[in-house]
Amino acid sequence: MTEFFEVRTADPIVIGSGVAGLTAALGLGSCLVITKTALAEGSSRWAQGGIAAAVGDGDDAVQHAADTVAVSGGLGDPLVAKLVTAAAAERIDWLQGLGAMFDRKDGKLALGREAGHKRHRIIHADGDATGAELMRTLRAATIARPQIDVWEDTLALDLIRRGGRVTGVLVRTRDGRLVAIEGPAVILATGGIGRVYAQTTNPAEVTGDGTAMAGRAGATLLDPEFVQFHPTALVSPLDPMPLLTEALRGAGAVLVDESGNRYMMGEHPDAELAPRDVVARANWRRRAAGTAVFLDATHLGDGFPGRFPTVFAAAMDAGINPRREAMPVNAAAHYHMGGIQVDEHGRTSLPGLYAIGETAATRLHGANRLASNSLLEGLVFGARAAADAARRGDFVGFEPAMVPLSALNVDDADDAAAVTALRQLMWDNVGVERDASGLLAARARLATLLPRLERGPSARNLATVSGVVIAAALQRTESRGGHYRSDFPNRDPARRHHTTYRPIPAATTTLQAATVAA
Ligand code: FAD
Ligand code: SIN
Repeated sequence: MTEFFEVRTADPIVIGSGVAGLTAALGLGSCLVITKTALAEGSSRWAQGGIAAAVGDGDDAVQHAADTVAVSGGLGDPLVAKLVTAAAAERIDWLQGLGAMFDRKDGKLALGREAGHKRHRIIHADGDATGAELMRTLRAATIARPQIDVWEDTLALDLIRRGGRVTGVLVRTRDGRLVAIEGPAVILATGGIGRVYAQTTNPAEVTGDGTAMAGRAGATLLDPEFVQFHPTALVSPLDPMPLLTEALRGAGAVLVDESGNRYMMGEHPDAELAPRDVVARANWRRRAAGTAVFLDATHLGDGFPGRFPTVFAAAMDAGINPRREAMPVNAAAHYHMGGIQVDEHGRTSLPGLYAIGETAATRLHGANRLASNSLLEGLVFGARAAADAARRGDFVGFEPAMVPLSALNVDDADDAAAVTALRQLMWDNVGVERDASGLLAARARLATLLPRLERGPSARNLATVSGVVIAAALQRTESRGGHYRSDFPNRDPARRHHTTYRPIPAATTTLQAATVAA
């Protein structure tokens, strides 16, 4: 019999401590933050390019929203884009009020430009260390609020339901105890799914946990097939692959092959600043064919370390001096446009459950995300979900508390070899380019790996989200945004619709039946 403790809190429970989670926590003022890492880990702190906000001369939220929808493969929601871009200036003011130090020029915020943005509107810090400054700020503000309780190194395993409502989460704490925590609302802010892939820019903790937990609880997922691959991750033995920010190409860096040929000139009129999926495919195809490709930023010379200190350090660590040498690159899984379906307040299809940040699918990005819009989305939806959860904080505790049976049977550790096999399988068959035979092979192989994956705390989440991405990718017989089918290379106007996906809810058990309460 599994032994665990029960805790009831009067405050909402936030799961995850990246930009979305800590924004929600600060918006709530009083809450419990559960995070499987130290506070403020996740993709957020590694963000380089910056935060998009239309604060420059001649720019406005309407133009920012139009650019957002223009790259979205026909699936970005103009109303959500309007809502997010209109809130951007206030969110930047809020961060500065908390002490964030963004780069400035002539007394004003310095604004960079990235692909797809028709204006300079990327706010950044220390050149390419925006995420570090953002998370330093949010972490300090969180720690300063005694009403925000933080449980670090605590892994959320599965959601607790009473009747149709999500009322809490079953967690494993730092000291190995299982604890059932219930409260008036649960806000998932667990980040993306990048670790599903062998090649990714995402840190180790980004294993799709929120998306998998919500799916097991019966929440509707949206557009799982839309994964964004970043074109320029540094090829080295490091995992995650260090990102070489798109801002480098914005600053004039070019892509060349082994012969020094600047191949993007022949691929797209915007060359290196073509849409992210176009550049990612160009790089991936050459790599897959055995040709090395490089990002050449040597024109920056001795100015490199000052302008791009994060990239400079990563390249030097990998033994490359980017002032003098071009850097070997490949595409890498970077961002999940799909996720848990939410409305404009971050509410999921399950009462009591919210999702924000990368684990949520707000319809802002559609099939393709405009660069630097995700930190902004986390800042905006973090605040909106907090406001809504604070208003709707009613706890209904009459039905028996249920958790997925599997949550009580997970081991302490993942089967590392099975996880490696899964990540390679996803990269090879469900990555930058997909086709029916590869997707079917991936589905079959996943089924054989499943018994080894499903007992591991992160591995079972990787398996769940892999299965969902494969199923949705098989179903979308066209190419759109981040989803490219080599057997259906064109966009099909008849398929301009979202994919809604309801995984079969996991078998559950009542907490009382398995409990020894503390
Ligand atoms: P994350 O920041 O990933 O945080 C997830 C949190 O959830 C972590 O604290 C983690 O510990 C916790 N967690 C996960 N699972 C569990 C669990 N089971 N139990 C408890 N806790 C859990 N976007 C931009 O807009 N601009 C950029 O310049 C930019 N650059 C990027 C550079 C890199 C290298 C990467 C990887 C991404 C970049 N992105 C950028 C994307 C952006 O950083 C992410 O989309 C965003 O930070 C996601 O924020 P989040 O709060 O949703 O999740
Ligand atoms: C980058 O700096 O290239 C990444 C920006 C983003 O993913 O939004």
